[in-house]
Amino acid sequence: MCGIIGYTGAEAAVDVLVTGLKRLEYRGYDSAGVALELGSTGESSRTIDVVRCVGKVAGLEDELAARHAAATCGIGHTRWATHGRPSVENAHPHVSCDGKIAVVHNGIIENFAELREELTAKGHHFRSETDTEVFAHLIEEAYPHHLSEPRPLVAAVREACTYVVGAYGLAAVCADEPGVIAVARKDSPIVIGRGERGSHVASDVIALIDATRDVVVLEDGQFACLTPEGVEFTDDCGHVIEPEVTHIDWDIDMAEKGGYPDFMMKEICEQPRVVRDTLVGRLAPTGELDIDELGLTYEQLDVIDRVYVIACGTSFHAGLIAKNLIEGWARIPCEVEAASEFRYRNPIITPSTLVVAVSQSGETADTLAAIRDARIKGAKVFGITNVVGSPVARESDGVIYTKANKEIAVASTKSFIGQVVSLTLLALLLGQVKGKLTTAQVRMLFHELGDTAEQIQWVLDTQKEAVHEAALACKDARSALFVGRGMGAAISNEGALKLKEISYLHAEAYAAGEMKHGPIALIDPGFPVIAVATKSPTYDKTVSNLKECEARGARIIAVATVGDEDIRKVADHVIYVPAVRDALSPITATVPLQLLAREVAILRGCDVDQPRNLAKSVTVE
Ligand code: F6R
Repeated sequence: MCGIIGYTGAEAAVDVLVTGLKRLEYRGYDSAGVALELGSTGESSRTIDVVRCVGKVAGLEDELAARHAAATCGIGHTRWATHGRPSVENAHPHVSCDGKIAVVHNGIIENFAELREELTAKGHHFRSETDTEVFAHLIEEAYPHHLSEPRPLVAAVREACTYVVGAYGLAAVCADEPGVIAVARKDSPIVIGRGERGSHVASDVIALIDATRDVVVLEDGQFACLTPEGVEFTDDCGHVIEPEVTHIDWDIDMAEKGGYPDFMMKEICEQPRVVRDTLVGRLAPTGELDIDELGLTYEQLDVIDRVYVIACGTSFHAGLIAKNLIEGWARIPCEVEAASEFRYRNPIITPSTLVVAVSQSGETADTLAAIRDARIKGAKVFGITNVVGSPVARESDGVIYTKANKEIAVASTKSFIGQVVSLTLLALLLGQVKGKLTTAQVRMLFHELGDTAEQIQWVLDTQKEAVHEAALACKDARSALFVGRGMGAAISNEGALKLKEISYLHAEAYAAGEMKHGPIALIDPGFPVIAVATKSPTYDKTVSNLKECEARGARIIAVATVGDEDIRKVADHVIYVPAVRDALSPITATVPLQLLAREVAILRGCDVDQPRNLAKSVTVE
């Protein structure tokens, strides 16, 4: 995820910015840059010098020269590419035409194409492919030399924001206002703090923690003007406000984890944001879905008559959900195959076959080999990955990037949710193109998909105790079974994988209706059976299967729909999720399974971030 840093004060800005950017490295990025004010104190105007590089922040240090050491004001950025490939030109900061204004920005400007067109018509010259650059030109338009009345930088930033639709955390400097950093925020985090020797801004508290532990978390619609002497906060009308100061008592380790005890918990809790970010800008005002990265025209999509989803591990489980959605909504036959199997088979592939390759890392060897094989056989290949510029992205005809940002815990959680949301979009698109879903249905489903962000949050906020109780029931078991039907069966696989992977407890997933054909023999008193029993067309059938388990003394943990009290007649423990349509239920119902696996692992004394013998991605065989 992109990172912002800014400093103005008495110290060498280069040192503060580079240290801050290094603190933000753990979030992942592909390029970095700083803008520094050069010139002496007391001058009414300075020059802005921008230094950028592709790759690590360390590369910036090589570029910075002795003349930069004197600078005491600047802004910096680590970029994770969204609009435009990773390159020096696309790295932030971006500057106005006259080079006097520089900006760094996190978030997505949804109407950037229109703004870019309007600004170009007014004579602005764009040097990058990014959405961010429009901010530099919008601020330039609103800045004094275009106006009769003098006006401060922060006011120009405020005006620029009125034209922007989307999300932004923004910091800007201007050569004509030495020592000033103007800051704005909407839907993208910004924190501001006063250190002993200056004022600091960052997108994450971890980058400020060396300077101060008392920070202001800027709210949407608030602005700040940082100077070496202090910070002035204003609202969207320019009225001065006094925001609350938060004291941070985390150490660096906790700060990296955002105050959570481990990365796995942090990443589980990021999932509402992942849902929102993955959907930003996807629904055009006409009600049609907008997935322009697809690389395939509507005509090319219309002829697709078979879909293969190929993936490994957790990504494979996202594929199981996609199968239900693609067949249900678009009525196209869809097979899900482990990439490790697909690559050694001779699957039926024609030019009207779409292969969807799902990979968090974008570099899993089996998935890559399967992509290459499918392309040789003439299929169109579409990638879903979390890593910009990864081999899966490069070798596919089109790609959707999940907006999970860097995933650090070995057990994939937020990436899974990003994958499921992206695959749901793809299924909606296919349904729309094939004429099986009307525009009104697509719009309704899209909005319901967006609602799952709040529903996940509800689970995170309310089910902690229930998860803990359920985990106690599993902690000393030698084995556990995960069961469900339909969508519930698909995510049972993910529940079992998570439990195995981080708590070293043997677990199996079974379609609930298959239990009586053998596995039920495993059940003896106290055996944990974790059931996805949310309200769905097969709910009653699932409950019947659970009764068979209950009769053999199983300890039943049910993931159920809030308000379902009847489930308690059969289940010993219940973790609730909000009511949601069956097609979207995997997004919310997976969260209790992730939380349960983590809690069991902790109770069993396992380090949830560092499971033994497991690399984050399997790049070699
Ligand atoms: C499980 C997990 C693995 C990966 C699998 C595929 O938590 O992380 O099962 O899902 O190795 O990796 P990607 O998605 O990077 O191809």
